[in-house]
Amino acid sequence: MNFLPGAEVDLRGSNTLGLPAIAQWCTDIQDTADLPATLDFARSRGLAIRVLGGGSNVVLPERLPGLTLRMRSRGIALLEETSLAYVVRAAAGEPWHPFVLHCHQQGWHGLENLALIPGTVGAAPIQNIGAYGLELAHFVQEVRGVDTQSGEPRTLDAAACGFGYRHSVFKGSLAGRLLITDVVFALPRAASPVTHYAALAAELSGLAAPDHADVLAAVIAIRRRRLPDPDLLPNAGSFFKNPVVSSAEFWQLEARWPGIAHWPQEDGRVKLAAAWLVERCGWKGYREHGVGVHEAQALVLVNFGAGTAAALLALARRIQDSVLQRFGLGLEIEPVLC
Ligand code: EPU
Repeated sequence: MNFLPGAEVDLRGSNTLGLPAIAQWCTDIQDTADLPATLDFARSRGLAIRVLGGGSNVVLPERLPGLTLRMRSRGIALLEETSLAYVVRAAAGEPWHPFVLHCHQQGWHGLENLALIPGTVGAAPIQNIGAYGLELAHFVQEVRGVDTQSGEPRTLDAAACGFGYRHSVFKGSLAGRLLITDVVFALPRAASPVTHYAALAAELSGLAAPDHADVLAAVIAIRRRRLPDPDLLPNAGSFFKNPVVSSAEFWQLEARWPGIAHWPQEDGRVKLAAAWLVERCGWKGYREHGVGVHEAQALVLVNFGAGTAAALLALARRIQDSVLQRFGLGLEIEPVLC
């Protein structure tokens, strides 16, 4: 048992935006066996529970009341090899990118498109991480966790996770209710490289038949070029979701703004590149009050060091207002606002 919550813990190093934040109470969970005692501690003091993985998709306020749990549990296991898939369980605290590399090295393919996404395995289902033509949902067999109110273990199959574009029940109806302890993946034995995403196809264009290793290398190369490394320039990845509109709305927009970046969806609707909209409103490379818009990717807000949550959210609001005014489109913030 290694349960010792600290009081007034500085979380600046525990969120990739590097925002100043103090947790009223905070503890690291190395072993999920410590969860019942942890939940009892919170319940007996009437403390709300908050969970942090890699802190790469959150905007923390300057003060977080309640008990913050940093998930640090580790472990990767091949549970089963069926004729169709490798079934792999990973603990919530496993850092995501090393997990992708490990799977790749074992010959369990499919996750290569999701390489270099910051954060942990346990946080990945919450926003259904996705990149370069694939989403996590495609590979999830089940998500295991503990009910924060009853302390009981709970397992959700993929359908129960309610995955959507950068969305899941863990962000919706189960927000704050389920503490994710493990994710079980089904990685198809016959996974073929997914290369249709335009930027990825362009990166691979010199290769006749790219394999999984090529996809992995290409994704890493694109991300290193386009997305700031949070260790060097604090950020939380895309700050806004890409808006999805009806085809009728899209045709109207396209008539007015030829060349508007977009992706047709399977259901007939059209996803628009929020980065394109933000850039056309003149924000790319903009800076104010210690925060700004990344110069190579207009969807990424960055903290130059002295930024606060208030400054960041004020900038986000101004960007949202300008996109609404110019294009008539509302941009939704993507990270979780704690
Ligand atoms: N574009 C611009 N200006 C920019 C950047 C992009 O006009 O500054 C346009 C270009 O036309 C480009 C298009 O936007 O073709 C799409 O850009 P990109 O491929 O960089 O993707 P994105 O839509 O901006 C999404 C995800 C990223 C993910 C990439 C790659 C969301 C909110 N973001 O970004 O995910 O890595 O696709 O698949 O869906 C994240 O969620 O935190 C994240 C980084």
